[in-house]
Amino acid sequence: DIYPTAKDGSRAVAQEIAALIKAKQAAKETCVLGLATGSTPKYLYAELVRLHREEGLSFRNVVTFNLDEYYPIEPDALQSYNRFMKEQLFNHVDIPEGNYYVPDGTVPKEKIKAYCEEYERKIEAAGGIDLQILGIGNNGHIGFNEPGSNLNSHTRLVTLDNSTRLANAYEFPNMSQVPRLAITAGISTIYKAKHVLLMAWGTHKAKIVRRAVEGHSSDQVPASLLQQHPNCKFVIDEQAAQEL
Ligand code: GLP
Repeated sequence: DIYPTAKDGSRAVAQEIAALIKAKQAAKETCVLGLATGSTPKYLYAELVRLHREEGLSFRNVVTFNLDEYYPIEPDALQSYNRFMKEQLFNHVDIPEGNYYVPDGTVPKEKIKAYCEEYERKIEAAGGIDLQILGIGNNGHIGFNEPGSNLNSHTRLVTLDNSTRLANAYEFPNMSQVPRLAITAGISTIYKAKHVLLMAWGTHKAKIVRRAVEGHSSDQVPASLLQQHPNCKFVIDEQAAQEL
């Protein structure tokens, strides 16, 4: 779907999420959301907070799993995705503490493998992800699944591409402080979601959106692997659509 601006697109996605949460409430079921970070979902989270405050949208039946986190990083560090999610969403809505999960950037290295397997088990125990929100990196990454990540990849520790570290350097005092590693949900983790919704805004995303949508589906552009997902939608603004 193409919207005039990022705000319009974000509002539409927020409406879709609100409808899903309410349908699950009516059925007395939990609503399991997969969430993303970065600049792309900021308007979406602001809009969900507004719907909570002004229209009484409740998150009491919502369980969320975030895609990724830098490694290593303290959860209260300025650049931590744990902190980002609290500041953008969790602290402002009525989601019960213990219902939201963001990968932990402080797990000792020798325990990461077990930690990642446990993260996948928790998603399954919650009933699987109903709706996965994604952004897209300039190189086509989803979560922190850099080019080369394959369809069978699970939650794991990964090495960030230099281009990704450069793109995210603005969050850090300088480039050398951008972590070289991250924990990310895998492509297979994302694929298991019942619905996938990828958002992209702005002219700087136009080229990679074209490669993801119209290009050959390949692990060299991880987002292009979504072409085979049975229920995936891209929500983009006119600027991000200009190369289509
Ligand atoms: C980041 C995140 C991704 C995000 C992407 C795009 O590094 N790990 O989940 O989708 O890169 O970032 P932005 O939304 O700031 O353009």
